[in-house]
Amino acid sequence: MSGLFITLEGGDGAGKSTQAELLQAWLEARGHEVVRTREPGGTTLGVELRKLLLHGDDVDPRAEALLYAADRAQHIATIVRPALERGAVVVQDRYIDSSLAYQGAGRVLDTEDVRHLSEWATGGLQPRVTAILDIAPEDAAARRHARGGTADRLESEDSAFHDAVRAGFLAIAAADPDRCAVIDATLPVDEVHAEILARVAPHLPH
Ligand code: TYD
Repeated sequence: MSGLFITLEGGDGAGKSTQAELLQAWLEARGHEVVRTREPGGTTLGVELRKLLLHGDDVDPRAEALLYAADRAQHIATIVRPALERGAVVVQDRYIDSSLAYQGAGRVLDTEDVRHLSEWATGGLQPRVTAILDIAPEDAAARRHARGGTADRLESEDSAFHDAVRAGFLAIAAADPDRCAVIDATLPVDEVHAEILARVAPHLPH
């Protein structure tokens, strides 16, 4: 595949959407085709799954893991792989690492089970670059609060859950430093952007 697959990860309120927008603009200014997308909810099926996952009733942890994996299978098959095959840069908000951190570390499912499920769902597609925007859950919650709006089903989990998710992301990064960069999400927006670019630029297709 000739394109470049980039994912942004981190807790809720870490600033992924802002960074995805900035990265897209920077890449497009250099002539790259960019597909900016997200999980859950990057496809028509995914939009329905997203509603069930974030605004529905309680979901059993295994059912939750399967629904994220179903969203992921549809998204990778119909949006991401075709984009990479035609040489585009895919900038994606959340991917397998979110399942490992939220369903694995957060819900305490077996992380290897969660990984196998997602790898099966996607045929093993891995990002080349993953920026993990790291922020203390209290700071992220304060940001979300300042932004207004109501918390979704996962955002409403307690602080132990969010601490476990954060630790999950950091463990993923420690195990795969070639792919993952941990970036301090409390830095100014332009500094976070610069750190992301430093990781992305060496991998851009010519
Ligand atoms: P996101 O779209 O980033 O939320 P928001 O737009 O509100 O910031 O992610 C939605 C939620 O889904 C988020 O709390 C993390 C969770 N999630 C998982 O638990 N597992 C997954 O595999 C993915 C992709 C997301």
